[in-house]
Amino acid sequence: MSDTLGIALVGCGTVGTGVARVLLAHAERIAQRAGRPLALRRIVVQNLNKPRDAIIPRELLSTDIAAAIHDPAVQVVVELIGGTGIAKTVVLEALTAGKHVVTANKALLADCGGEIFEAARQAERTVCFEAAVAGGVPIIRALGESLAANQVTAIQAILNGTSNFILTAMAERNLSYTAALAEAQQLGYAEADPTLDVDGSDAAHKLAILAQISFGVAAKPHEIARQGIETIDPMDIRFAHELGYTIKLLAEAWTSTRTPNGERGMRGGGLDTTLSNSGLHPAAPHRPTAEKAVALHVAPVLLRHTDLLAQVRGAYNAVLVYGDIVGETLYQGPGAGQMPTASSVVADLIDLAVGRAQRTFAAAKLWSREGRGFTVEPPERVRSRFYLRLLVADKPGVLADITRILADEQISISSLVQHEAAEDNGGPVPLVIVTHYAATGRFRRAIERINALRTVAAPAVFFSMGD
Ligand code: NDP
Ligand code: HSE
Repeated sequence: MSDTLGIALVGCGTVGTGVARVLLAHAERIAQRAGRPLALRRIVVQNLNKPRDAIIPRELLSTDIAAAIHDPAVQVVVELIGGTGIAKTVVLEALTAGKHVVTANKALLADCGGEIFEAARQAERTVCFEAAVAGGVPIIRALGESLAANQVTAIQAILNGTSNFILTAMAERNLSYTAALAEAQQLGYAEADPTLDVDGSDAAHKLAILAQISFGVAAKPHEIARQGIETIDPMDIRFAHELGYTIKLLAEAWTSTRTPNGERGMRGGGLDTTLSNSGLHPAAPHRPTAEKAVALHVAPVLLRHTDLLAQVRGAYNAVLVYGDIVGETLYQGPGAGQMPTASSVVADLIDLAVGRAQRTFAAAKLWSREGRGFTVEPPERVRSRFYLRLLVADKPGVLADITRILADEQISISSLVQHEAAEDNGGPVPLVIVTHYAATGRFRRAIERINALRTVAAPAVFFSMGD
């Protein structure tokens, strides 16, 4: 075998170390699958004095990004720094220098995908990013290649391993939110700034990438309604459980195409339902209202215990994709962590070595001007059922005030739970209301008025229902 593919690793933290380990420990297997050797030529880090895994060859380490990018023995630059600052410069400079790029950086692609992909097309180079969404789960290839005959009609996914790890630990091990987050950080799942994990930003970045591949939309951050898991109290997990539900942070994309009888928004209803398996799908939990629109949002959602996504535990991710030809398919696996993410990065390197990645990149025309006619639905028009938890004074008329406000906004109540106070000490008691379908805008207006009631002791906590 000849014609070695030279690689520069820019960033050698959690993921970079994993990539180096795979390339060095499995060099022979990888060379066989790639048809030629893959050689790690350079490793760039910020701090040369930091202790590193013993497998990292010290002689390859430096802090000189430019030298790595411009090394003639390097054909691929692997960006594993993260963020949208220096990482963006690395990617653009590498492309301009005629190098292919592999990245796991979803924040960068979500924010600057248009600019980066245009630079790649200009330079006739390829950007690979399997690891940027769902870690070790090959969802980018599934959407871009295996499902290429389909128009995707909906995506429902768990895309942040850290949040799913925290919610699982709170529900199953009674861990506090803070202790569960610390454990996720220690295991290498969390972002450098873990706020991005828990406030839904990281999942929104990944959803923006999936929406680009599936619908050709370049969603701006404000077009993805986003709510994180920070407001989830152990009491919400218990109430949800009592009602038959599990709380998951979901990233969802729902299209608004019509079924043949004119009914809107059946999950997986598709562009042409004569081709779809729409009979398999239950009614959509979130319903866009406009034609050929896609509603994108990230939020905690109450899923029935029996729902497939409710059973995804720990740092695992799962993506349910509804295609108008195939019907429903599910992709599941480790969504964060060193080795699962390295698995996807190295798969991209093998694809580049073989030459497959270059062909699919050129055909996909991602972030190009060639749209597919989809628009992004304003979040406030999306319809959903809601779980609403209030802390209220245990006094006459309180419930009447709350239900009147909901009625004013045409929001109908599906169920209501209030347990007797453990002690009659005059303190506030939790009140849980589950609504029928309501437009998000109307529901939020009602919440504003409810929060203003003097008998409501703390801001309302509310989540969408998954059914
Ligand atoms: P880490 O923080 O563990 O590693 C970052 C690396 O970048 C470190 O090696 C650091 O150097 C280096 N670095 C930072 N700034 C500079 C700079 N100015 N010049 C040169 N090197 C620099 O991050 P992760 O490995 O966790 O994440 C990397 C990327 O992968 C991110 O985009 C992340 O979103 C993505 N990702 C992460 C996953 C995970 O599970 N962790 C999963 C999927 C994607 P030094 O070592 O000296 O500090
Ligand atoms: N911090 C991310 C997560 C890493 O927890 O999912 C994988 O992208």
